[in-house]
Amino acid sequence: MPNDPVPGLLAHACQILEAQFALPEWAPVPMPDEDAMAEVLRDTAVRLGDNYPYFHPLYAGQMLKPPHPVARAAYALAMKINPNNHARDGGRASSEMEIEAVAELARMFGWSEFLGHLTSSGTLANLEALWIAGKIAPAKRIVGSEQAHYTHQRISGVLKLDYGAVAADQHGRMSIEALEVELKKGDVGTVVVTLGTTALGAVDPLHEILQLREKHGFRIHVDGAYGGYFRLIPNALDENARLAFAAISEADSIVIDPHKHGLQPYGCGCVLFRDSAVGRFYKHESPYTYFTSKKLHLGEISLECSRAGAAAVALWATQRLLPLTEGGVFADGLARGRAAAIELDRRIREEPAGKRYFEPLRLGPPELDIVVWKVAAANPAGASQAAQNIFTACARRNLHLALVQLPQSWFESGDRASTETAGENVTCLRSVLMKPEHEAWLGKIWDELSAACAELGG
Ligand SMILES: Cc1ncc(COP(=O)(O)O)c(C=O)c1O
Repeated sequence: MPNDPVPGLLAHACQILEAQFALPEWAPVPMPDEDAMAEVLRDTAVRLGDNYPYFHPLYAGQMLKPPHPVARAAYALAMKINPNNHARDGGRASSEMEIEAVAELARMFGWSEFLGHLTSSGTLANLEALWIAGKIAPAKRIVGSEQAHYTHQRISGVLKLDYGAVAADQHGRMSIEALEVELKKGDVGTVVVTLGTTALGAVDPLHEILQLREKHGFRIHVDGAYGGYFRLIPNALDENARLAFAAISEADSIVIDPHKHGLQPYGCGCVLFRDSAVGRFYKHESPYTYFTSKKLHLGEISLECSRAGAAAVALWATQRLLPLTEGGVFADGLARGRAAAIELDRRIREEPAGKRYFEPLRLGPPELDIVVWKVAAANPAGASQAAQNIFTACARRNLHLALVQLPQSWFESGDRASTETAGENVTCLRSVLMKPEHEAWLGKIWDELSAACAELGG
């Protein structure tokens, strides 16, 4: 592993932090037994070894990206205080840092006026957005593409709101025609628009959905939990994604997960509302908190009570080092992952004719940085089994990919499927190339993939 700068940087920052508290000497009770702690930490390290190497460029499977060293250091530094961003009573500095960091996220989407805060996950952030949607249109339905994250249907169930799935087109995006059929029923209150689906990284055509809003009137909630940051690299996107991200400021609410593409440790989602007046729905009394300051306490505008102030500190520090600007270092990192995805897809598409081992999606190159492909086989069951075998053979070679179920009609061979199997899903290989290092490692990833296939007789 490369030299980790965090321990040295952290020790220095801890001294600066501690020096600010002029307090009488004290000692913890009981005094920590360092030998016992060292032994427990040794066991802990051994237990943690049972993991996929998420930090390494050969981990190219799920949506897992290592936090930036400055985020790890700032999070650990905040642990000296362990602030709670429910109220300023428990996290004065970290609440201010959260407000500043969230304003940067909102600014990235073109909002200077908004209401928003961090959450412990994308699920919680989406829950708050749909909760507000239900408050504003209590008797109306929520709809989202069948490729939207499963969380929307579950959350709607929790909130007792009717939810409907809209068909996806052959690009994996919400079908505008299918959406219009739903809208004509007159009972849709909110459309969930996913800018970057979990399976494919497909981008729903927000710019076209906005035109339907003129006609039918509904709220738009953008789920950008995974894809939101791609707003920073318009020139690296194809037309649909570029137009959709350019229209994002027209949404009523947006979710983005700094713990996905934003280089943060887990426990960092974010929800933003364009109309800050939705704050009225959060109004509640807390007899125990909100007494140290007349300024806004974040608990007054969030559903969660205790929340890690350290998550806000880590995000604030990361955005200070790597501002969310087009053309900046952070944006360049996103563009590198996307370049790796385009290159992997190109290699799959350009396998020599007659020697095709893989079959690309017919929808074309990836919209963001997720690549999905099928194994060529006589039938869907054979393709699914082969994908599983390749997944396992790659893992033995330290190349970690993922699997996903997709309609076989999304591949050309789907046309040749028998009538009995035409509607079936097929298991495909999937790779999320979200680390900047993936660009330089793509050649090695391809070599390992090819070697795994050769091992299996491909
Ligand atoms: C588009 C999208 N929305 C929501 C979620 C859920 O986010 P979380 O896992 O942080 O709860 C995910 C997770 O992958 C996602 O990709």
